[in-house]
Amino acid sequence: MGVVRKGLGCNMKKILDMLTEEMQQAFAAAGYEGTLGRVTISNRPDLCEYQCNGAMAGAKQYKKAPIMIANDVAEKLADSKVFKEAVAVAPGFLNLKVSEEFLLEYTQGMRADKKFGMDMPENPKKIIVDYGGPNVAKALHVGHLRSAIIGESVKRIARFAGHEVIGDIHLGDWGQPMGLIIHELQLRYPDLPYFDESFTGEYPEEAPVTIAELEEIYPTASGKSKENPEYKEKAMEATFKLQSGVRGHRALWNHIIKVSVADLKRNYDNLNVEFDLWKGESDAHDVIPGMVKYMKDGGYAYISDGALVVDVKEETDTKEIPPCMILKSDGAALYNTTDLATIQMRMEEYQPDKMIYLTDKRQDLYFEQVFRCAKKTKLVKPETELFHIGFGTMNGKDGKPYKTRQGGVPRLENLIAEINEEMLRKIKENSETKGYAVDEEEAAKTAKIVGLAAIKYGDLSNQPAKDYVFDVDRFTSFEGDTGPYVLYTIVRIKSILGKYAEQGGDVNAASLQSVQNDSEKALVMELAKFNSIMEAAYEECAPNKICAYIYDLANQFNRFYHETPILNEEDAVKKEGWIALLALTRDVLETCIDILGFDAPERM
Ligand code: ARG
Repeated sequence: MGVVRKGLGCNMKKILDMLTEEMQQAFAAAGYEGTLGRVTISNRPDLCEYQCNGAMAGAKQYKKAPIMIANDVAEKLADSKVFKEAVAVAPGFLNLKVSEEFLLEYTQGMRADKKFGMDMPENPKKIIVDYGGPNVAKALHVGHLRSAIIGESVKRIARFAGHEVIGDIHLGDWGQPMGLIIHELQLRYPDLPYFDESFTGEYPEEAPVTIAELEEIYPTASGKSKENPEYKEKAMEATFKLQSGVRGHRALWNHIIKVSVADLKRNYDNLNVEFDLWKGESDAHDVIPGMVKYMKDGGYAYISDGALVVDVKEETDTKEIPPCMILKSDGAALYNTTDLATIQMRMEEYQPDKMIYLTDKRQDLYFEQVFRCAKKTKLVKPETELFHIGFGTMNGKDGKPYKTRQGGVPRLENLIAEINEEMLRKIKENSETKGYAVDEEEAAKTAKIVGLAAIKYGDLSNQPAKDYVFDVDRFTSFEGDTGPYVLYTIVRIKSILGKYAEQGGDVNAASLQSVQNDSEKALVMELAKFNSIMEAAYEECAPNKICAYIYDLANQFNRFYHETPILNEEDAVKKEGWIALLALTRDVLETCIDILGFDAPERM
């Protein structure tokens, strides 16, 4: 057959493409157009595994009854090495079953390749993923959770798909909130050297605030500025001083950033989220004047009602797309301005082929404007892909945005603590029913690992754009479409493999065998979908496809497991084949959860 190439890093075709190729050859051999031979997954799994409806499509062209065409093709497949069964049924379908040898060769190829047969691009792209987007000195809340979770996975998917990917946190570290904090600090600690304009010495190395105080300061200051115009005025002045480079303000701001970033790192570490770049809106500051000039000189930007704008509407628009504002009438830069300047910087520094942004979908229109503006003003190349993933809201069981029991916006840390607590309870309960003792410390560690999977899977299993209900009970369940269920399956496989090794077996040396029964075949066919699922997840930026896949895979595995007494099998070769199949299933599942951004514990 020679279709499966082995070796590390090899590229393998997708199984449906291979089946289609075989079918196309049969159509051609029977004297029909090969392109009719498209094979799809069966929609009658009770009758067959795959099907081809090409004879139906060809009936008109060949002025023949579809069943006659199907019969001709089936005849050509009688000796197929790929299909063990190709049956023509009325009115003209081809019902297909794949051969065990073909599947064996396919899974051998998967096992020999560290990417399990995922095709690597000839020209890898350089991609920047802009996600996380927390704001300095503000506690992380659930709104930032989705950006971090989905963004991390989108980044890992693209990396697995063979591209060069850079994750950038794009901190909110520059605007009005900074002025508010600085002003409030000045009121509280007027004697700090940062506010003494005649001070020329070295500023202290020690930060004058803690993260706890910063997180309290921002809401306080923001509340005050809403009530008190004079306070607001002063805060704007502080923002202006910071942005125009007043030494003391910059030094204080540096402290604020440092304190806040240290806290953010700790939080993101806990989430298994890591950024390559910790750039912020502030990094765009120095680029803005040049960019504004470029937009004016190029004739793109013009003054409208005092503000500097770029028109971005297009003839085909069905809804009103307002102009992109570059500078407010008082000359101040906006959120847009920093994003456009950041695009310009990224193009200079990294020359990315693609930029992906993750925010709440309420910023959909905003990004549409920014992207159009970047294209129109040629900040990017015509072929540079700009892509926004706007995600939905995380709701409570009442269908409204998730709130704490006290009714406030929950801090991320509390939310994680809540899940971990419930997870710990379930882990202890589970060990009690199974009658083994758990070590308190180990259980807490496991609860943390499984808790993160519960949160992330609960989020990622939905299409990003959809709202979803954060349901602690459901997310932490060991049964159903949940993270803990998938982990439980992995742990189960690891335990069997562990026992095999204890019996003196060598898992890595075990070789795959031809499948023996239906549930085993179903498991193998599920495994073989890996590369096509991954490709779709990459192309559509859809981690939910991977979740759906590992859920199906876990189900197929558990069905096989319940029907097959693996370790008690007397036939050593048979047993070895199953062990190899388990090892492959474990590796595929663990690769998938790593791409989703979580891990499995050793025991649960
Ligand atoms: N800091 C922003 C917020 O909290 C999100 C930043 C998203 N990224 C971007 N390049 N605009 O809404």
